[in-house]
Amino acid sequence: MTKYVINGGKPLNGEVEISGAKNAAVAIIPAALMVDGVCRIENLPEISDVKTLLQILKEMGAKIRVVNKRTLDIDCSRIGTSIATFDMMRRIRASYYIIGALLGRFGRADVAMPGGCNFGGVRPIDQHIKGFTAMGANVTVRNGIVSAVTGDHLRGATVYLDVVSVGATINLMLGAALAQGTTIIENAAREPHIVDLANFLNSMGADIRGAGTSDIKIRGVQRMTGGFYSIIPDQIEAGTYMAAVAGTGGRVVIKDVIPKHLECISGKLREMGVTVVDLEDSVIVQRDAPLFRTHVKTMPYPGFPTDMQPQISTLLCLAEGTSTVTEGVWDNRFKFVDELAKMGSSIRVDGRTAIIEGVPYLTGAPIKASDLRAGAALVIAGLAAHGRTVIEGVNYIERGYEKMIQKLTSLGADMKIIFERDEPRFKKKIV
Ligand code: EPU
Repeated sequence: MTKYVINGGKPLNGEVEISGAKNAAVAIIPAALMVDGVCRIENLPEISDVKTLLQILKEMGAKIRVVNKRTLDIDCSRIGTSIATFDMMRRIRASYYIIGALLGRFGRADVAMPGGCNFGGVRPIDQHIKGFTAMGANVTVRNGIVSAVTGDHLRGATVYLDVVSVGATINLMLGAALAQGTTIIENAAREPHIVDLANFLNSMGADIRGAGTSDIKIRGVQRMTGGFYSIIPDQIEAGTYMAAVAGTGGRVVIKDVIPKHLECISGKLREMGVTVVDLEDSVIVQRDAPLFRTHVKTMPYPGFPTDMQPQISTLLCLAEGTSTVTEGVWDNRFKFVDELAKMGSSIRVDGRTAIIEGVPYLTGAPIKASDLRAGAALVIAGLAAHGRTVIEGVNYIERGYEKMIQKLTSLGADMKIIFERDEPRFKKKIV
């Protein structure tokens, strides 16, 4: 089992570069399936979710050429199958975007049900199915396979989403890009990665307007033919490093970001007494005084992101006084609280709200990540804690954070990865 070992209590100082956005990349790579030509995609993050999706595309017949470590040429012009039922599909949540892409391109799709982070609750896809059905598809789910069939092509329709869903907005936007006629998605999600996907599709030849607002209008086109696109910086990776500096103290320049996307995170950190200075494409984060308590409620963009909830909850464990964090997006995203308790935190969860009593310090302990952002939060806890923290379940973290150890050690963290073969018990066995 691979683990991270952190000797906490070291302030972070220096500069860190933020990678391309995971949740944009995992939508844009399936979108390449719809393009009849070569897509050059720049600023792809080197994370395992991206590698898994690229492997899925390859198995479907895509030609992928590495231009450099962050840039790929993807050519899906020769793909002739609408079937993607590989085991790999079940590894990641974003594999469901392949449904929208294949439906848009071929008018049918047989796709294995998505996997991905499990926060302990159900992750339904009823809004995706409702939208595709309104666009003329007959959708069935049997034995873990989603099958969606149209007579020929999807037809444009007006779809009102009952919940603001990032996944449903993206999936319907994909299907609609090559549908016959015009689709309007009402009550659409407005996250930066929705806008990024729309920009990608438009630069390949689609006709999408209104992304970033609650009403997105997509005029179906007959073909998309290829082009260049550079993915936006990762809002949540940036927020995670901002929270890490707030937890340890120090001063870090977070580079290659869009400060506008970080406004709600910067705002909360300022309320907690952290200095955040916005520059053109970077932010400076500095913490040299105790943290104040605050109250946080996660909401769809432009609200405070649920994907930063575990990280801010961890910080609030170290703030003076009582704070509350209310999860407004997912039913159950507080599994990590039990791990923080092992480090001496004081958190009580009541339904969707965590009531956090600040403690003067956390103490290093053996703990386990249960999902990607929970893992990031535990890293922050370990960096800020007194003593040694050993984190299991780091495969979750590597799904979404590029080179986290290198980035943090370059800022002064005392952190390393150990693989099972490095552990003494295993060495003894081979001797
Ligand atoms: N929902 C439904 N029906 C649906 C779809 C969603 O009821 O058909 C509900 C969900 O149960 C949830 C809410 O709507 O309560 C929002 O879900 P959404 O569809 O927006 O989530 P998602 O698309 O499955 C993406 C991100 C998540 C992030 C959420 C919310 C990707 C690959 N995943 O998930 O990111 O938490 O949006 O912003 O983009 C992460 O990066 O760690 C992560 C989990």
